[in-house]
Amino acid sequence: MTRDEFKFLQALMQRRAGIALWSEKQYLAELRLAALAPELGCHGSDELLARVRQGDRQLELEVVEALTTSETCFFRDIRPFEQFEAVMLPALMRSRAHARRLRIWCSAVSSGQEAYSIAMVLARRKADLPDWRIEIVGSDISRAMIARAAAGRYTHFEVQRGLPIRELVEHFRREDEDWSVSKALRDAVDFKVVNLVEDVLPPGPFDVVFCRNVLMYFDLPTKSTVLTRVARTLAVDGYLVLGAAESVVGLNSGLVPDPANRGLYIRDPAPSLQPA
Ligand SMILES: C[S@@+](CC[C@H](N)C(=O)[O-])C[C@H]1O[C@@H](n2cnc3c(N)ncnc32)[C@H](O)[C@@H]1O
Repeated sequence: MTRDEFKFLQALMQRRAGIALWSEKQYLAELRLAALAPELGCHGSDELLARVRQGDRQLELEVVEALTTSETCFFRDIRPFEQFEAVMLPALMRSRAHARRLRIWCSAVSSGQEAYSIAMVLARRKADLPDWRIEIVGSDISRAMIARAAAGRYTHFEVQRGLPIRELVEHFRREDEDWSVSKALRDAVDFKVVNLVEDVLPPGPFDVVFCRNVLMYFDLPTKSTVLTRVARTLAVDGYLVLGAAESVVGLNSGLVPDPANRGLYIRDPAPSLQPA
């Protein structure tokens, strides 16, 4: 890949997904495009890039999707799911006792494991939530990932990563070499394609927003823009959950770390103390 082609890719990823494609990623980008080109009927990545440069929007989307990182697993990093069950859920069950409604959004859900993990936690607590209307939205920029998430079919390797045996037995059934999530779990999550940078976001208010392991791919201004947009969808007393290596510190988003719970973020109470 020439220097010029890589610069074009960097600009494309920045413009379409907000993703900063660092120079160290050039080798990886070359590998991914070389694998993608024949699938799209191109003789190599130069032809693929040439067609994208000529304005083929379909191929452009394929390239953007191929260059995003979709690494995920069930109950990834476990702590956010423990906090969901032990901290967020009890607080929300108290504050929403009258409305009996909960809305949760996984905003970079990749192939769906994060949203299904939340649905499994909620299934565990089903008896405490009789008649509650619970909505889980899972979204991602990648159409391919959203299609996989909605299908809810995972390889043996994928279910071995992080999924407790109890949940595997209760919510999955074997299908040939793979495992499929139960219809109940699939019906619990509404999957859709949403680009956090440029699309209209799912309408709030959400009580909990998971935005994990995606901000780390954005440059500083894009992080601020995305966080500000996401913060607007959050209920006044809602929670934002970021990835372990991410934080709102230094970003002007209207969110602050929850002083009582490391890793959770809440709306900044300070502005409401300021005189109008
Ligand atoms: C590393 S995965 C994280 C998945 C999951 N949240 C987790 O923590 O396991 C990052 C996901 O962010 C998605 N993504 C990247 N840029 C995005 C954007 N602009 N809008 C929405 N999703 C984006 C990618 O497609 C990918 O599925």
